[in-house]
Amino acid sequence: MDKIAYFEKEYEYIKDENKVKDIKYLVSKLPDYFFEIPASSTGKYHPSYATTKHGLVKHTKAAARIAYELLEDEAIGFKFSDEEKDLIIMALIIHDGIKSGNPKEEHTRFDHPLLVSKFIMEQKDKLSLDTDNLRKLCSIIESHMGPWNRDYKTKKEVLPKPKNEIERFVHMCDYLASRKFLEVPFNGLNIK
Ligand SMILES: [Fe+2]
Repeated sequence: MDKIAYFEKEYEYIKDENKVKDIKYLVSKLPDYFFEIPASSTGKYHPSYATTKHGLVKHTKAAARIAYELLEDEAIGFKFSDEEKDLIIMALIIHDGIKSGNPKEEHTRFDHPLLVSKFIMEQKDKLSLDTDNLRKLCSIIESHMGPWNRDYKTKKEVLPKPKNEIERFVHMCDYLASRKFLEVPFNGLNIK
């Protein structure tokens, strides 16, 4: 399975070559199931394209594309530096990468944002990102669920909420990509 190849289009949204290398490395280490499973098994929370095989990859692509398009609009993108824009795309490519745990568990792990951030920290010696950017990337990912930060069963607060502009922006892109009324036209695994 050529995991890296799934996101060739999305790497083009990243300007800094070292960051492209880093995200490719991280994608190559994601568990196999990520590339196959639907974004939502119930179909309750995602548009139809995301509810079948490769749905989570498609959801990821839609979220990254939404970010890219918004950031390209200078009236929106001006808020972020080029480096931050790269971190936003990196975060979205990897944000659900360990959605069902590693190794795979039967259900979605509610704390998957924390699992992804831990996964990144475990690989940090192989990455060129400096400590500041690593921390930024991880906190963007940890808070990507936005207001849904309490475990369904225990009602305990397990995830941090977005606390700054960049974290809110990434949550917004993920949120938009999960809205059922926003269908993205796919041709295979590519957005048309
Ligand atoms: Fe997501």
